[in-house]
Amino acid sequence: MEKPSKIAPAKGKLGVLLPGMGAVSTTFMAGVELVRRGKAQPVGSLTQMGTIRLGKRTDARSPLIKKFVPLADLKDLSFAGWDIFKDNAYQSAANAGVLNPQDLEKVKPFLSTIKPMKAAFDHDFVRLIDGPNIKKGKNKYELALQIKEDIANFRKTSRASRLVTCWCGSTESFVKPEDVHSTPEKLVEAMKANHPAIAPSMLYAWASVTSGVPFANGAPNLTVDIPAIQKLAHDHEVPICGKDFKTGQTLMKTILAPGFKARMLGLDGWFSTNILGNRDGEVLEDPGSFKTKEESKLSVLEYILQPQLYPQLYGKMHHKVRINYYPPRGDNKEGWDNIDIFGWLGYPMQIKVDFLCRDSILAAPIVLDLVLFMDLAQRAGMRGIQEWLSFYFKSPMTAPGLYPEHDLFIQSMKLKNTLRWMMGEDLITHLGQEYYD
Ligand SMILES: NC(=O)c1ccc[n+]([C@@H]2O[C@H](COP(=O)([O-])OP(=O)(O)OC[C@H]3O[C@@H](n4cnc5c(N)ncnc54)[C@H](O)[C@@H]3O)[C@@H](O)[C@H]2O)c1
Repeated sequence: MEKPSKIAPAKGKLGVLLPGMGAVSTTFMAGVELVRRGKAQPVGSLTQMGTIRLGKRTDARSPLIKKFVPLADLKDLSFAGWDIFKDNAYQSAANAGVLNPQDLEKVKPFLSTIKPMKAAFDHDFVRLIDGPNIKKGKNKYELALQIKEDIANFRKTSRASRLVTCWCGSTESFVKPEDVHSTPEKLVEAMKANHPAIAPSMLYAWASVTSGVPFANGAPNLTVDIPAIQKLAHDHEVPICGKDFKTGQTLMKTILAPGFKARMLGLDGWFSTNILGNRDGEVLEDPGSFKTKEESKLSVLEYILQPQLYPQLYGKMHHKVRINYYPPRGDNKEGWDNIDIFGWLGYPMQIKVDFLCRDSILAAPIVLDLVLFMDLAQRAGMRGIQEWLSFYFKSPMTAPGLYPEHDLFIQSMKLKNTLRWMMGEDLITHLGQEYYD
């Protein structure tokens, strides 16, 4: 692909559309408002706090990313969402219990104005919850058209010059790619025929992409990972990316595993278990939704460690992931990892990680960065799969036939080099021989 010759300026408002107004969405929106009002820092957000080195190490040029690339300003963001429950963003945030009441109180008037639009929902895909705020239609195609109307209305009422959608809805039951997902025409036919392999998230994705709106997928659902949507993204010049926000235990895995591999330490096994008590945990009690999540979590180690290249080190690795719904924990998840590694001459060692983490606190800045970078990508004329945003995902999307990069440090380099490339700066290889000539 050619380097973008010109990036359109971030003029006017950027509307953010959120299918799913639960823990992650509301923590994101509340956080943006607290930051805009100077009441908190956007910790965890690369777009807000990150810098980027340009040129040689001796040049001392490390601007803030937000000063280097033309990103939308936080003050220009406005929000809308859909949910199966009628709670406004304040009520939903209070239910989710991520942010403390003092913080929520400061943004209550703002959050209370964000009321969910009716959702396109199918109980077969999320079996353990049900709600009253649901669209009605003859078939899935009609529901998708209603979502398109919602998008057009929001564009008008918010007076946004650009929009971005980020799926923050529940994890849906596992769906395999089928023939109905292979072309845009077959997808529409299948929507009209209420085909069981068309998940609600695909309706939002179809509506967004065909409205020219970039779509990021925060859940492990298939959604935009199908040729039909990818073709539409290309035709409508829309960036897409996914899937499954990289937070918590998987974030730790993609930090630790590249280190073991870099030092050629072997791995006999990695056992991961979690307890969590939020709605996401409740949804994941259903075996269908858990399978979708499990697939996303398991693939990470295989790709990082490459057992086919290192059979003596990683050929016999046992990798298990468990998630247990335990209501007293709420959103404050606890994830244990028992890692059986071996070193010189095969001598075994163990590493235990006990991460008392806050999932939505880790996910909210990811939503912000994705929204801002997807908008940037669209203004730069980039369309289709945005692999440079792999940094944010457990199961990064790639071109067909290409294996994904899971190593957080490769992903970070890829992201920053993409920004340098977009702006016509030299890429950084870390070779550094020039300092010794
Ligand atoms: N919290 C994290 O760190 C994290 C990490 C990775 C991925 N995720 C994924 O992000 C998503 C959101 O997580 P969360 O913790 O906010 O979950 P949540 O359960 O608090 O929120 C999801 C919301 O989506 C709504 N919903 C379900 N189906 C819908 C539909 N068809 N249309 C509109 N709304 C719908 C639910 O009613 C719920 O309010 C989940 O899929 C989760 O797996 C979260």
